[in-house]
Amino acid sequence: MGTVTLINNETGQSFDFDLIDCTRGPKAVNFSKLFENAGIFSYDPGYGSTAGCESTISYIDGKKGELLYRGIPIEQLVEKYKFTDICQFLISDSLPKNDEESKKFDLELRHRSFLHEKLKRVFDVFPDNAHSMATLSAIVSVLATLYANHKDMDDEDDYQTMARRIIAKTPTMVAFCYRNSVGAPFIEPDVSKSYVENFFYMLRGYPHSRWKYGLDGEQEITPLEIEALDKILTLHADHGQNASTTTVRNVASTGVHPYAAISSGINALWGPAHGGANEKVLAQLHEIGDVKNVDKFIERAKDKNDSFRLMGFGHRVYKSYDPRAKTLKKLKDELDKKGIRMDAHLSEIAQKVEEVALSDSYFLERGLYPNVDFYSGIILTALKIPRELFTPIFVMGRMPGWCAQLIEHDKNPYARITRPRQVYLGK
Ligand code: CMC
Repeated sequence: MGTVTLINNETGQSFDFDLIDCTRGPKAVNFSKLFENAGIFSYDPGYGSTAGCESTISYIDGKKGELLYRGIPIEQLVEKYKFTDICQFLISDSLPKNDEESKKFDLELRHRSFLHEKLKRVFDVFPDNAHSMATLSAIVSVLATLYANHKDMDDEDDYQTMARRIIAKTPTMVAFCYRNSVGAPFIEPDVSKSYVENFFYMLRGYPHSRWKYGLDGEQEITPLEIEALDKILTLHADHGQNASTTTVRNVASTGVHPYAAISSGINALWGPAHGGANEKVLAQLHEIGDVKNVDKFIERAKDKNDSFRLMGFGHRVYKSYDPRAKTLKKLKDELDKKGIRMDAHLSEIAQKVEEVALSDSYFLERGLYPNVDFYSGIILTALKIPRELFTPIFVMGRMPGWCAQLIEHDKNPYARITRPRQVYLGK
């Protein structure tokens, strides 16, 4: 095992620390005994050089622009598997071995998709136009009161039930959050429909003035739409120790109910620097308004005296193209050809933003490329999903990842409460 020597030039003392071999990527220095042995601690705001846990769930190679779920590239998973298979894969580390196993899991989710009657009544307290992310995190907190037994999980079955339950109910909660915010009645899940079809059905179901219906009140949900949203969810399923996942782990480290930790993760995801960027990207494309304005906005993004940032660009880990963005861009073009029409005007502006930014030294030198949120909004709009649901859709995708990370954290006998130190500069 390699070591790293730290020399304190003030005292001349030196200290050796073990290197940890990760199965992929650079090595890590084990600084867990830094304070105990050397009497000093590390300072790393934003944790850019710090690992807070060991994990086997997802791996990102930021230079290559690669993302793996449990060792398998996302491009392969998105082509071969349904989102519900990916959920099973992430929470249990095992892909369905055959169609029968895949269907069994899918069926369990369908049956668990209903909400407790009391939970439905909680929606009444939220005002019209409440943002669905705020409502969703509150509803997930309330879910902890209904399934108090998940607080103490003993065996694998307990963990699986906790995860399957919340994964199954998330589309229902998201659809209800939206319908409640616009005063439309809830549409109950239909067990004859698959995970994604059910979400569309509960979201668009009659009556709601936003969508067009046939005489029988039915609104068409096409297989292509289902396939597209399914892929989008898979692309969001896990992503290392990002801000919301770290929040879930940090909150879980205090020993709270798992759904309380997930509710905190939902709040962390809402911010525009994280999952909330997908909603902001679309607003920004509208603000740019025309390809002829792109140069002006790119100049603003580069200006350090202007708070304007290009939304959907840049990432802490990726210093090349985010593979999720690459797959989404391809999906956008494919869907457009197959008949799910993208907004041509917005697509043209987005394309131009990408072209101008990626030929500009400011973006190239800093490794700022389109991230997952850059193209997802254009596709979600073409799928007739309201803009305020873009980040809740991210929650739907990320739920199996959060559950898998929470389970991993909970089962780790060495996991401790998260308790960083501070560089105190006060009186
Ligand atoms: N537009 C203009 N400049 C940028 C941008 C941007 N979108 N992102 C980073 N920079 C600049 C930044 O000003 C800094 O420049 P300098 O070195 O001259 O001070 C440099 O690039 C490094 O930026 P940073 O803020 O130190 O990078 P970070 O790792 O702390 O932040 C980020 C990462 C994603 C928060 C940031 O790139 C950003 O705000 N992007 C826009 C919001 C966005 O799209 N978020 C979604 C992220 S992907 C979804 C998810 O998984 O969360």
